[in-house]
Amino acid sequence: MKYLIANWKMNHTIRIGEEFLREFSLLDVNHRSTQVIIAPSFTSLNRLSSLIQRENMPIYLAAQNMSQFESGAYTGEISAEMIKESGCRYVILGHSERRYQFHESEEVIFQKYKSAMDNSLIPILCFGETLPVYQAKETISFIKNQLTLFQKDKPFLFAYEPVWAIGTGLIPRIDEIVMVADFIKHTFPDSLLLYGGSVNPETIVPISAIPNLDGFLVGGASLKASTFFSLLLAMENSHESR
Ligand code: PGA
Repeated sequence: MKYLIANWKMNHTIRIGEEFLREFSLLDVNHRSTQVIIAPSFTSLNRLSSLIQRENMPIYLAAQNMSQFESGAYTGEISAEMIKESGCRYVILGHSERRYQFHESEEVIFQKYKSAMDNSLIPILCFGETLPVYQAKETISFIKNQLTLFQKDKPFLFAYEPVWAIGTGLIPRIDEIVMVADFIKHTFPDSLLLYGGSVNPETIVPISAIPNLDGFLVGGASLKASTFFSLLLAMENSHESR
């Protein structure tokens, strides 16, 4: 099974999200080897979850973030239990926009991860190097540090997202992605690995051919149903041609 995840970030109202799901479902009659996951805003989760259930769509929901706390006096925060109740199976944690724009530390991300696991949510844990680290060829030691707290024996989803590749049109070379994939598979043998950063209908083709990669986390190219569908088609085709 491969995974294709749409990270809508702070885009799409409830109405636009519902339109997306309807359009996507009309295009997609039966994807077989890919699990499709949508991460809309918190405010859309309930309504999109109802639509998915009512229409029996083969789509799962993820939250884009959550609180590290279980409950209590944390104004503006949303707990793992609330996310679960809103119909999510997954939660994205440690996205670089959270790390760098909202100053989330490794410790905070690890607490979120534990709370997600305790509440039976599957974490999609993002990691990846910055441009200076990439240029200094220190990607693996940087990633090792980012992931030291995480348990090696628990299955969950990792998303390798080089910070410099997000929304820039730049992507690492295939052998560089393979190097990270080998490191993750060796260090976390029960986990799955996605790639994210400037994935579009063209860039997805060569990356889909990497054998130990389990899918994609997509930002910009996930916002239109037709473009997102072409990503799904590219993945299904590459799966079938193996
Ligand atoms: P992008 O974003 O596909 O727009 O580069 C990826 C992400 O931030 O998850």
